[in-house]
Amino acid sequence: MRLTRLYNLWLHFPFDRPQYTMKTTTRFALTLLMTAAMSSAMAEGGDAAAGQKKAAMCIGCHGIVGYQASFPQIYKVPMISGQGAEYITAALTGYKSGERKHPTMRGIAASLTDQDMADLGAFYASQKGTPAAAAPQPSAQVAELLKKGNCASCHGDNYNKPIAGTYPKLAGQHADYLYVALTAYQAEGKATSGRGNAVMAAQAKPFSHKELKAIAGYIASLPSELTVVPNAKMR
Ligand code: HEC
Ligand code: HEC
Repeated sequence: MRLTRLYNLWLHFPFDRPQYTMKTTTRFALTLLMTAAMSSAMAEGGDAAAGQKKAAMCIGCHGIVGYQASFPQIYKVPMISGQGAEYITAALTGYKSGERKHPTMRGIAASLTDQDMADLGAFYASQKGTPAAAAPQPSAQVAELLKKGNCASCHGDNYNKPIAGTYPKLAGQHADYLYVALTAYQAEGKATSGRGNAVMAAQAKPFSHKELKAIAGYIASLPSELTVVPNAKMR
C-alpha cells in the first residue's frame, strides 16, 4: 500500500538535522493527521484476521454446504467465500440501510460497524475457490437473453470478473439464490423482500420470471471462485 510507505518515510524522516528544522508541534500535529489517514485506509481495506474472528456469527449459515434459508422464501444461502471484498461490504451496507430487505440479514448487518464489514469482506474474499478450466456454452435462448441484458458488460468475463469492486462475481453461485436475487431487484416497496439497487432494477425488470430462471441456471453452471468453507477448516 502506497500510503503505508509514505507513513514509514514520514516516521523515519531525519527532522533533527539542521537543514530540515521543523517545529515539534507542527510535526506532532501532522503525524496525528497521517495516523488518522492510515487507520481510515485500513478500514477501507479490512483486516482478514480480524474478520475471521467476527465470522463466528456467519458460519451457522454461510459455512454449511447446501444450507437453505426458509424465510421468506426457500433457497440456498449464497456462497460468500471467494466473493469480492468490496462487494461483500456493499451488500452488508445494503442490508443495514434497508436497501436490501431480507429480514435475517438485516438483523445481522444492523449489529456490524463499517470496520466489521470491511474485515469480514477481507476475510471471505481471501477464501477463493479454484474454478474449473472450461466454461459450458449457453443454449441459444440463454445466449440471446444474456446479450439482450448485456450482463457481461458489468459482471465481466464468464461472469466472474466484475468491472468494479462493488459489483458481484456471479459465476457458479447457487441457481436458486441467483433467481431469488434477480426477482428481488424487480420488487420494490415490500416489507420482507426486494432490493432497491437502481442499477440492477433496470437490468432485471425487462425479463420474465421464466427468463430469469433460465439465466440463473446457466450462470450457476459456470466455473466459480465462490465456495463454502465449513467451520472445521477454520483455524
Ligand atoms: C441465519 C442465516 C444467516 C446468517 C447467520 C448470516 N447470513 Fe448472510 N445471508 C443469509 C441469507 C439467507 C442471505 C440471502 C439474503 C437475500 O436474499 O438477500 C444472505 C446474504 C448475505 C450476503 C449477500 C451475498 C450476495 O451475494 O449478495 C452477504 C455478504 C452476507 N450474507 C454476509 C453475512 C455475514 C458476513 C454474516 C455474519 C456476520 C452473515 N451473512 C450471517 C443468511 C445468513
Ligand atoms: C450496469 C451494470 C450491470 C449490468 C449491465 C448488470 N448488472 Fe447485475 N449487478 C450490478 C450491480 C452493481 C450489482 C450489485 C447490486 C447490489 O448491490 O444489490 C449487481 C447484482 C447482480 C446480482 C445479485 C448477485 C448477488 O450475489 O446477490 C445478480 C444475480 C445479477 N446482478 C445478475 C445480472 C444479470 C443476469 C444481468 C443481465 C440481465 C446483469 N446482472 C446486468 C451491475 C450490473
